[in-house]
Amino acid sequence: MPLDPTPVPDELRGLRIALLISGGIAAYKVVDLASALVQAGSEVRVAMTSSATRFVGPPTFEGVTGSRVQTGLWSGGTSPEPHVFLGDWAQLILVAPATANVVGRIAAGRSDDIVTATLLAARCPVVIAPAMNDAMWAKEAVQENVTTLRRRGVTIVEPESGHLASGHVGTGRLASSQTIFNAMAHAVRSRYDFAGRRVVVTAGGTREPIDPVRFISNYSSGKMGFALAAAAADRGAKVTLVSAAAHVAHHGVEIQHVDTAEEMLAELRSQLRGADLLLMAAAVGDFRPSRAAKRKIRREETPSLNLELEPIPDLVASLAGDEALAGVFRVGFAAEDSDLDAKGVEKMKRKGLQAIIANDISRRDIGFGSEYNAGVLLFSDGTRHDLEKSTKREMSDRILDLVLPKLKR
Ligand code: CTP
Repeated sequence: MPLDPTPVPDELRGLRIALLISGGIAAYKVVDLASALVQAGSEVRVAMTSSATRFVGPPTFEGVTGSRVQTGLWSGGTSPEPHVFLGDWAQLILVAPATANVVGRIAAGRSDDIVTATLLAARCPVVIAPAMNDAMWAKEAVQENVTTLRRRGVTIVEPESGHLASGHVGTGRLASSQTIFNAMAHAVRSRYDFAGRRVVVTAGGTREPIDPVRFISNYSSGKMGFALAAAAADRGAKVTLVSAAAHVAHHGVEIQHVDTAEEMLAELRSQLRGADLLLMAAAVGDFRPSRAAKRKIRREETPSLNLELEPIPDLVASLAGDEALAGVFRVGFAAEDSDLDAKGVEKMKRKGLQAIIANDISRRDIGFGSEYNAGVLLFSDGTRHDLEKSTKREMSDRILDLVLPKLKR
């Protein structure tokens, strides 16, 4: 009869979790843990030290998770950088069981196998569940390493007392799956404040065709939208990026490519159903050719060319009029060269937005194409917050900090 899986806390559902396994007999218990996470809808990938593979074979974890297990620094599926891939990919890392040896190597900052290298490359919360002989656990050297790791922000799930593999009773047994899951959920709660939120971001300058090879666009690089999408995804949101710019999207960001304003509007209408937040960073065109030529316009056939342009409807304003999307908190951007506050407030009202970020396009050190941005965030309730010059990624996190309390639960 199959055992019921340990209940998985909601915070862990849908997350990308890396399980790092070192060489202890408790490795077999982690198979059930991986299985429970997968059944709860988390995406689980496993890396093992070579000692760990002596206790449980990688095919067992591959069967349970459906993904290739990484056992070395040089093998990583399709990744060109196997030593950092998992650290970069994961939203949460669990090291279980963590032997005295691996605890020591992590504390020392080593990167001589896939487990330690993954941890050095990690950007996400790390939970370590040690399991070892009771005398080893009690040793000053091990306890000092554990203290060092705790000081660095790692969550340690202390081993429990009970019957040990060595035959006697003592403290060193891997904590129960429930205790480990609770510690993981706690680590997630404090980091992933956008978990359970659906965020739609737009990026880039829309392109309106003149003919099959030419278009009208603008200088928007798309960097601000990509930074917002990455920040929201790193904080646990489910993110869709509707983009007219072609960059590589961050892990966990689903990207929908569009060219024209009309395509962007259609994509937004379908993506925004049930979403919590729209961050409209795209520079949507204001005019487009009334007719696009079906064939390439040839120079010798066209001594001079007059383009007739028609206005493009305001996308955010038309979304504001859609009752089905009334629950979405809509944040626009305003590119201004003067009077940021006054013009921002006017645009926010005109476009039916709940907030707007006005940035100064007259400054050469920020904005279009730059890694930096600055401006002011204005809410429709009258509050305002200066956004000091910072990288677009830092500014994105600041925007998310300020917007989160305004979202409906
Ligand atoms: N926007 C939009 N649809 C458009 C034009 C702009 O949804 N056709 C959105 C942008 O994505 C941005 C906000 O409106 O979030 C403000 O864009 P901006 O270019 O500053 O404003 P415009 O309406 O174009 O006003 P103006 O050209 O007069 O400054």
